Amino acid sequence: MKVLVIHGPNLNMLGKREPEIYGTFSLEDINNKLKALAAELGLKLSAIQSNSESEIIDAIQKRDYDVLIINPAAYTHTSIAIRDAISAAGKPTIEVHISNIHKREEFRRKSYIAEVATGQISGLGADSYLLALRASKNILSR
Ligand code: DQA
Repeated sequence: MKVLVIHGPNLNMLGKREPEIYGTFSLEDINNKLKALAAELGLKLSAIQSNSESEIIDAIQKRDYDVLIINPAAYTHTSIAIRDAISAAGKPTIEVHISNIHKREEFRRKSYIAEVATGQISGLGADSYLLALRASKNILSR
């Protein structure tokens, strides 16, 4: 059972980027925690980061995963193209955010992804990803 994690634009800057909002952990820290939990849960995990909308869409279209965990970052609020790719792929998809998008600026409250996601986890820091991985295991065990 394979889980693909996609980290969207600017998430390569975690640790340096607005630490008061996004924390002091790096993307590598999150991926290491995800890999350790995946091994514990008996899941195969691969993780990619891209600042490019087209690369994210290409990865979703490959459909070589059983569950998709995606933090679309700013594309959450703008990208009908990523929304359509997730819808067309037809795979269980969990939308994650490090910060709580519902208690920040008004424009962050709109997620094009939520409409096609199985669920959304927002505001729990790096734990948002780890909880999404645990939920993936449960979805695959059903
Ligand atoms: C984010 C929230 C988005 O609004 C923002 O554009 C990001 C990160 C989060 O993980 O909290 O880049 O997706």
